[in-house]
Amino acid sequence: MTIVDELQALRAQALASIEGASASDALEQVRVNVLGKSGSLTAYLRSMGSVPKEQRAEVGKTLNLVRQAVEGTLDRKKAALEAEELEARMAAGAVDITLPGRAQQVGTRHLISRIQDEISEIFLGLGYNVVPGNEIETDYYNFEALNTPADHPARGMQDTFYVVDRSGDKAAVRGESDVLLRTQTSGVQAHVMESQKPPIYIIAPGKVYRRDVADPSHLPQFNQVEGLVVDEGITFGDLKGTLEYFTQHMFGEDRRTRLRPHYFPFTEPSCEGDVSCGICHGEGCRFCKGTGWVEVFGAGMVDPNVFGYAGIDPEKYSGFAFGMGVERIACLKYNVPDLRMLLTGDMRFLRQY
Ligand code: DAH
Repeated sequence: MTIVDELQALRAQALASIEGASASDALEQVRVNVLGKSGSLTAYLRSMGSVPKEQRAEVGKTLNLVRQAVEGTLDRKKAALEAEELEARMAAGAVDITLPGRAQQVGTRHLISRIQDEISEIFLGLGYNVVPGNEIETDYYNFEALNTPADHPARGMQDTFYVVDRSGDKAAVRGESDVLLRTQTSGVQAHVMESQKPPIYIIAPGKVYRRDVADPSHLPQFNQVEGLVVDEGITFGDLKGTLEYFTQHMFGEDRRTRLRPHYFPFTEPSCEGDVSCGICHGEGCRFCKGTGWVEVFGAGMVDPNVFGYAGIDPEKYSGFAFGMGVERIACLKYNVPDLRMLLTGDMRFLRQY
């Protein structure tokens, strides 16, 4: 076999390997095997010097032709494989441009926050200040300073979540801890009366917690707005007028208020306040349980004992206080039949407001 024959055999073998390569990296391997530093064709190029003179021209010519054939075939195959591979990548990462897009939902304030702000606006307009409070409260401020000592039966109605510090090895129950999640915003009254001198005109919105099972009109965690006024010459008439003003601004001019005698430990006398039903306008319907009225407020004149805890002279000052449930007000205003609907996060419901 002459060198020329060998070169022709090498050519046939190289071209077959190139055609047989199924991917770019396999093709690259073929290129290295033939044309690389120690490739089969390279070896012939290197040994040209030892080819007998009379054969050199023919061998040289053949070598060049073989090299051109191999390089040309490599280039064509490379382009073909790369095109194939690009197609495959595009098919794998394909995006169906006919699918409808996923729109970003823009958030808004929740109905409860909005109603809370509306309540604040009404009282700010009357010259009240809005004060913050603590959700974790001591027994003293949540009960004791509100004329509700440890053995008072009114505590039982607000049986609550007591907390222990981390060093405690078990959850506290009533009597074992004097720190709790507040059951009412009324404790803010005690804080404010300790730190401010009359005249006091404040409201205090915020979350409260009770060990209640959720039902259409109760939630274990809800929001209240507390109100407190302490000044000279404040009467029950001022309380009534204030609640009426609030009702008409929150629910509309046509709404009426009604006060019923009630009991709260920290006010004397105490009352509950009802608002005329917005659905039946007082006729009586399912929403108001046939009475024409819906309960909204707890209120009363600040008990002199509460002034006593805070060091305010009950002979000089008098005052009133009230509390209202924000979720109930939201439901009353928009005729939502179940408080729990406010917490479900169902966008179809929330988007209506
Ligand atoms: N804290 C009471 C409750 O959660 C509501 C209340 C009643 C607040 C009378 C008051 C008040 O300020 O005077 O049921």
